[in-house]
Formats: sequence, C-alpha cells, structure tokens
Amino acid sequence: KRSVIVGCGSYLPARIVTNEDLAHTVETSDAWIRERSGIAQRRIAANDETTSDLAIAAARAALDGSDIDPSTLDLIILATATPDNTFPASATKVQAALGAAGCMAFDLQAVCTGFVYALATADAFLRCGQARTALVIGAETFSRILDWQDRGTCVLFGDGAGAVVLRAEDGGRGDKSDRGILSTHLHADGQHYDMLYVDGGPSSTQTTGVVRMQGREVFRHAVSKLSMAVEEALAANDVTAEELDWLVPHQANRRIIDSTARKLGLPPEKVVVTVDRHANTSAASIPLALDEAIRDGRVRPGQLVLLEGMGGGFTWGSVLARV
Ligand code: ACO
Repeated sequence: KRSVIVGCGSYLPARIVTNEDLAHTVETSDAWIRERSGIAQRRIAANDETTSDLAIAAARAALDGSDIDPSTLDLIILATATPDNTFPASATKVQAALGAAGCMAFDLQAVCTGFVYALATADAFLRCGQARTALVIGAETFSRILDWQDRGTCVLFGDGAGAVVLRAEDGGRGDKSDRGILSTHLHADGQHYDMLYVDGGPSSTQTTGVVRMQGREVFRHAVSKLSMAVEEALAANDVTAEELDWLVPHQANRRIIDSTARKLGLPPEKVVVTVDRHANTSAASIPLALDEAIRDGRVRPGQLVLLEGMGGGFTWGSVLARV
C-alpha cells in the first residue's frame, strides 16, 4: 500500500495583528521583525476560539475537497502543542464534530515538527493496512502560550490550522513517479531542551506556562538540521533538487527558509512561503502553506513536493510526496 493525499484544507482566525500593533505593547518595530524573521503580520484566535475549533474548520475544508465521507475515516491524528485541555486529546473533539465516532483519534506532540510526525505516523498506519483513510491535522493557538511581554518570542508566532486527507491505494511506494508519500524521515535530540521549551505543564508546575527560547541557538540548530533533513530525503529517493517541484517548509523564519533553499540550490520560485502573513504557526504551518499553494494553483497534481520541519525537542524531519 501507499498513502495518497486526496484532500487539503486550512483555516485562519479572522483577527490580523500587525507588527505595528505589537510595537504598541513591546519595544520592537516593524523593521526589526521583518528584517530578522520576514514576518509582517499574524492571525490570532478569538478568545472563544480553541485549537479544536481551528482544527475542525481545517478538517472540514480538507474533507470537502476529497470524496471521503467523515463517517468512513479510520484514523484522525491532530498534531498540536496547544490542545484545548490536558486531556482528552483534542483529536477526539474533532472526531465528535465531524461525526466520525469509533475510529482511532489521538493528538501528537512534536511542536513545529508535529505535522511531519503526524503525516509519517498516518502513512505507517495506512501502509501496514491498519487504516484505509486518515485525516491528519496541524492546529495551534500559540497565542495562548506566549509571554506577551517577551519581545524575543511574542512577535514570532501566530494561530491557525491545516489538514490533509490520506487514502491507502494499492501498490507499494515503488516508483518515484507514482502519486503518494514516497518517504518519511523523523528525528529527535532531547539534549537541547532548554533552548526551546514551555516553562509549565501538568506534571511540573500545574500551570500552562509560556514559550522560552534562545533564539540565536535555535536558529543555528534549525539551519544545520534542516539541511541534513532535506539531503537525507533526496538521497533516500534518488531524487535531485532539480527534480523537486516544490519545497514546502515549516514557516518559522524567512532566513531559515532561504538558507535551506539556498543549500539545496533551489530557486525561490520553488519555495512556498507564508511566514510573512501567518508567522510561525508551529504544527499548522506546513499544511497551511501546502493548502494555500494547492488552492492558488501553484502546486499541481502529480508534482513532487518536499515537506520539512524542525522544532522544540529538538525534533525534525521530512516527508517527500508526489501530490
Ligand atoms: N524587537 C527588537 N529587538 C529585539 C526583539 C524584538 N522583537 N527581540 C529581540 N530583540 C533584541 C535582543 O534583545 C537583542 O538585543 P541586545 O543585543 O541588546 O541583547 C538583539 O535584538 C539581538 O537579539 P538576537 O536574539 O541575537 O537576534 P537574532 O538576530 O538572533 O534574531 C530571532 C532573533 C528572530 C529570534 C532569531 O534568532 C530566530 O529567528 N531564531 C529562530 C527562532 C525560531 O524560529 N523559533 C521558532 C521555533 S523553532 C522552529 O520553528 C524552527
């Protein structure tokens, strides 16, 4: 079996917060934020909007574009670091809203690499025959875990959700000209915990906590780990950078994206960028970018797309797919 993407959707909260808006509350400027990160604005969820609300909207959009009835889903994975509650998994709320009772549903936590981890996990279920259809979502309300007084972090993140629907089709991963997921590679290195973490949690402080980050160190690790990740994906599939139609990277920082593309020798026209408008939406950023590029006609059926991400943990990884 192999996993084919048969639907894609996304959702962004309505409220736009610009860099100028943030400059009213912390000592920063539009010029500083744009120059260091490429971010111009971000979406922030309404007070009564939770991660599962965002996830449900993205999931509905993805299912609408597929021919899969929600009641026939076998598996729902929601990648998030900002679940509605400590438990149950927010994926079960999504399941109830979609009318998909009975199937597997769980959350997956790999922060900004969450969507890549979730897609790889769903792919494994589909290829081994334990599921025939899967809904994979990345959804976050990072605005809820930011220290809005810390200018080093609060300017970098946003809220949103994206989703894909996968179906198992006959045949193995086989030829790289076949549609479907061609390879997945996942990694983690827990040694650098203190470079990027949330300083709270049910078992430590019994508070939700806020993001703490050593930005410059994270940047350094991101650039080296992501270039390893993309090289690994291409080598494993005997694919050259020229054969790639699109790079859809995790959207953390324009400079990280540009440096990964440069190392690959990939021209900017082949890289999907949304960080300017969405900021870093963690697990949601890759499916948000993919959905935008599919809907506006840049990413077309049959094209070869490399997804990659890196985040807290550290975690990092890639998915190569012919969409
Ligand atoms: N506005 C103005 N000044 C600021 C701001 C701000 N928003 N934030 C920090 N500064 C100041 C700092 O206080 C520092 O001042 P000092 O020199 O007087 O101490 C100065 O700017 C330089 O700070 P650095 O952190 O060294 O700046 P840098 O060039 O590294 O840029 C940034 C910071 C944008 C955070 C960068 O390091 C980065 O993008 N790192 C990656 C972080 C990331 O993407 N994390 C997301 C999660 S992981 C992932 O998704 C890959």
